[in-house]
Amino acid sequence: MNERVNVKTLFDLTGKVALVTGGSNLGYDAAEALAELGATVAVTRRRKEEADATAALLAKDTGSEVVGIELEVTDEASWKRAVDELIGRYSKIDILVNNAGGRQVSVVPETIEDDPSFEFLETRLLEDWKYTMDANLTSVFLGCRSVAPYMKKAHSGKIINMASIDGIVGRDLRIYPGSGLSPTVPDYLASKAGVINLTKGIGVSLAPFGIYVNAISPGGFYRQQPERFVENYTKLVPLGRMGRDRIDLKGSIAYLASGASDYTVGHNLVIDGGLTSW
Ligand SMILES: NC(=O)c1ccc[n+]([C@@H]2O[C@H](COP(=O)([O-])OP(=O)(O)OC[C@H]3O[C@@H](n4cnc5c(N)ncnc54)[C@H](O)[C@@H]3O)[C@@H](O)[C@H]2O)c1
Repeated sequence: MNERVNVKTLFDLTGKVALVTGGSNLGYDAAEALAELGATVAVTRRRKEEADATAALLAKDTGSEVVGIELEVTDEASWKRAVDELIGRYSKIDILVNNAGGRQVSVVPETIEDDPSFEFLETRLLEDWKYTMDANLTSVFLGCRSVAPYMKKAHSGKIINMASIDGIVGRDLRIYPGSGLSPTVPDYLASKAGVINLTKGIGVSLAPFGIYVNAISPGGFYRQQPERFVENYTKLVPLGRMGRDRIDLKGSIAYLASGASDYTVGHNLVIDGGLTSW
């Protein structure tokens, strides 16, 4: 029989060093959860001043040590600089949250508001498609390979990749007409599906080195979207609401970043109020 381990001890991140990319919104929430559990956290933004401002706010909110680091997640040289900076400062990296991502939409067709079956297939600019793939998927690949050598050396590490329910299902396009918002773009769906399976692939290859790679797939979080959109969207959610910033993501980060998930590899933890369950 194994010795009893208190579950609170499993979640404790005291002494751990974490890197969270894209420290606004969900990235901020992830960093906040890690800092609250005792980790020293580095948050990245594309510009150094933004990173420092986010770090200062997070340090004030949590009382933890937080540093800001500049990082362009699509650029391998930028990853090297960011990881070198962190290693130079703390000599290790225990946790990486590949959170930064987004999409580029240079052209929004005018028909979008009136056509319930509209999707971007024919109008999508190839350069926008490529940017989204880089920002969401290549960035995760670069992040994993930038930290892997240090985690391998320590025979320990936790990597969390931010995917999306858009990587699991297509969008119900009926929520968009009259909502004031455009449907998501196909490259976003493809890139997030890529993150989910890349997580499995890297997860199994790094597991023998004591490195745990898992993904989180959030559903839609509430960000003052137009009322009509929120109404349409929440009808699709068994819980009847959108995700809440500062609350609903944090438990999943705590679980996958800590010893609480020490038998979990390549998993995609869905945080969507049940939307993809029916
Ligand atoms: N908000 C949601 O409802 C939702 C749902 C599912 C998945 N997600 C995913 O969660 C993650 C965070 O979402 P969010 O809502 O906080 O998004 P957000 O747009 O508020 O934040 C994304 C962050 O990533 C940064 N970023 C984007 N491209 C970058 C690049 N090339 N280099 C460096 N930084 C870059 C942005 O500057 C920003 O700080 C994203 O990966 C997103 O796709 C969000």
